[in-house]
Formats: sequence, structure tokens, C-alpha cells
Amino acid sequence: MRILVIYATVEGQTREIAEHIERYLKDNQHEAVMVDTTHPPDSLSIDEIDGIICAGPVHIGAFPAPLRRYVERHKRELMARPGVFVSVSLTAAGDDAGEWEELNEITAHFSEETGWWPVSVHHAAGALKYTEYDFFRKWMLKRIADKKDAPTDTTHDYEFTDWGALDLFVDGFVKDIPDVAGKI
Ligand SMILES: Cc1cc2nc3c(=O)[nH]c(=O)nc-3n(C[C@H](O)[C@H](O)[C@H](O)COP(=O)(O)O)c2cc1C
Repeated sequence: MRILVIYATVEGQTREIAEHIERYLKDNQHEAVMVDTTHPPDSLSIDEIDGIICAGPVHIGAFPAPLRRYVERHKRELMARPGVFVSVSLTAAGDDAGEWEELNEITAHFSEETGWWPVSVHHAAGALKYTEYDFFRKWMLKRIADKKDAPTDTTHDYEFTDWGALDLFVDGFVKDIPDVAGKI
């Protein structure tokens, strides 16, 4: 299968996730075509693409503008192939029902705004990279983390991503492509 992996990152964790997906696909005899929506190519051809994985992080209740713009601009091409969304957030590291409800609303809003509806969504827990944040970010993330019962010791970085769960999701999607494609 030839998979288009579209992503945006602000602090780097979603790039790591996208690159992990790329490696996983290649290790399993598939092909990955990478698009960083911060520096997108001029055109998009999906002629040779079998499926789409779109990944983006939640930052202050929304996905990055470059990702939203790119997906909105190419929604027709993207909707012509089976596609899934990998939503990266701190909320996904916890189990607060209210926070999860908000996260589901943020993800649904992304589809309403862009007009792109994935066949399924994987919620990946992201990272807290306190040692890389400037003073303002560190302060803001400490407040967000406190609200979500996440670590607030800013002298350490924390990674919550479950790489095995991500691999299972990608594997399931790739295997389902022939079935889903038949229904589009
Ligand atoms: C400025 C900032 C705002 C954030 N806002 C939220 C938020 O509203 N909800 C949430 O669940 N996670 C939030 N996070 C956590 C990020 O989703 C998490 O750190 C993720 O790993 C960031 O991905 P990136 O490194 O690809 O940008 C925020 C992180 C930062 C740095």
C-alpha cells in the first residue's frame, strides 16, 4: 500500500509520531509519502495513494492552522481515499471523562471546519517537553498539566505516547483499506 502521511507539529512530538508511522509502514513493506503541512508541496496527487493518515497535535483546544488550511484546501482529493486521523494531546494521557468529551469535540470540530471526515480517529498521548519551553510556555503547560493531573515538575520532560498502540492502529487501518475503499 502507498500511504500519504500528512502532519503538523509545534513542539516536535507529532513529527516523531509521523516519522514512526513512516518507519513502521516501510518495515511492513508499504510506502509512505510524507507531507509536513508547515512546508507543503505546491500540488497534491492522490492517483497513486491508497490511504491517508493525518496527524496533528491539540494546542489550546485546536489543531495547528497549517494542518487545518491544508486539509481544507485538499478535502476533495482526501475524501476520495480512506483516511484516518491521529490526534495528539495531553488529554489522551489521562482518563478524565470531561476532558475526553472536550477532546472528542475538538476533533469533531476539525472535521466540521475542514470538511474532511476520517473513517476513524486514534487518540495518541503526546509529550511534555518542559526543558524545551520558554518561560511563558512552561508556565502555561504547568497550568494545563495540573488541570489534567499530568506531571508538573518542570525540570523533567515526559513522553506519554504508546508506540505499540499506534502501530496496532496503523496496521488495522492498512489491512482495512481494501474493504473501506470499496465503499467510497
Ligand atoms: C502551548 C501548548 C498548548 C497545549 N494545549 C493543549 C490542550 O489544549 N489540550 C491538550 O490535551 N493538550 C495540549 N497541549 C499538549 C500537546 O498536545 C502535547 O504537548 C503534544 O505532544 C504537542 O505536540 P507537538 O509536539 O507535535 O506540538 C498543549 C501543548 C502546548 C505546548
